[in-house]
Amino acid sequence: MKHIVSGIQPTGSLNIGTYLGSIRNFVKLQESYPEHHFFLFIADLHAITIPRDRQALRRTIKELGALYLACGLKKEKLSLFIQSEIPAHSQMAYLLQCFTYIGELERMTQYKEKAQKQVSGVASSLFTYPVLMAGDILLYDAEYVPVGEDQKQHLELTRDIAMRVNQRIGEFFTVPKPLIPKVGARIMSLIEPDKKMSKSDDYIKSRILLLDDEVIIRKRIMSAVTDSDQSIKYDKVNKPGISNLITIYGAITNESIEVIEARFKNESYQSFKKAVADVVVEELKPIQARYKEIINSNELDAFLDEGRLYAEKIAMKKVAKLNHKLGLGRKQ
Ligand code: AMP
Ligand code: TRP
Repeated sequence: MKHIVSGIQPTGSLNIGTYLGSIRNFVKLQESYPEHHFFLFIADLHAITIPRDRQALRRTIKELGALYLACGLKKEKLSLFIQSEIPAHSQMAYLLQCFTYIGELERMTQYKEKAQKQVSGVASSLFTYPVLMAGDILLYDAEYVPVGEDQKQHLELTRDIAMRVNQRIGEFFTVPKPLIPKVGARIMSLIEPDKKMSKSDDYIKSRILLLDDEVIIRKRIMSAVTDSDQSIKYDKVNKPGISNLITIYGAITNESIEVIEARFKNESYQSFKKAVADVVVEELKPIQARYKEIINSNELDAFLDEGRLYAEKIAMKKVAKLNHKLGLGRKQ
């Protein structure tokens, strides 16, 4: 069976950037690729590359799990699991480090950005993180990996590592392909629209959380930073704020930029913002209702157990095979 693999870090509450750029895309992909088995996981090992409060981390893991389900993923052909519950992820990461060059990791832009932000003591795991990610993907011989634009470089590295291993020991890994959505691939901050909307942004006003209530959502969108030009036109360079709101609107309604521009041609920023807020609120309502249901039941735990059991078997086998191929241990 062919596989699709992706993960999300449990770092802070989920915002509409991650939703539109990632989770909602998974839901659509389940329809487009009905023959593929999906491995979607909560990348908690990735989260601890930066120190976290353990209570908060545990809460976020659970919240993310519930949100995955609340966003409408179908349970058939889906294994949802927590990365750290399958030790093969850590094991594969080490093995792949033996096939990754320091120079390659030094070129990763996300590492450079994150390392710069850290005031002191950059953990070596922040540096090797793309190898852990490569392992997440290669363990399951993923054919496709749906991710946002910002993960493209990590995917390219994953492909290089896979090809290098295949060259060294013979065909072993499937070389994965990225699946990057066209709309919603990059939702920007509401107050600094030249920066991506991020879970780790210091400004809470920069984002809309999936679990924010209606009043907050409306307030955030109405106070989103725009320009003084008053025309609703998509222009990322000169009008990043309005362009971002058009992207959000289009990602939710599935309408093209041209259609949106035409509809709001004679409208004020104020009334366009209200329209954006309306569609966001409507989109999130059913998700929030379903979330409440899931978080108060044991549905999530049962599904995570099932996911772990299914994924773990495949992952353990892959590590054992690679150990053997590399001459580790005693088995002939
Ligand atoms: P993260 O939240 O960084 O763990 O990312 C999870 C997935 O969501 C990745 O595939 C990211 O590329 C995607 N993602 C995160 N933030 C955004 C955003 N602001 N716009 C679009 N996609 C995003
Ligand atoms: N590094 C990804 C991010 O920050 C999350 C992630 C971890 C991932 N492992 C993965 C995504 C494997 C896709 C496949 O967004």
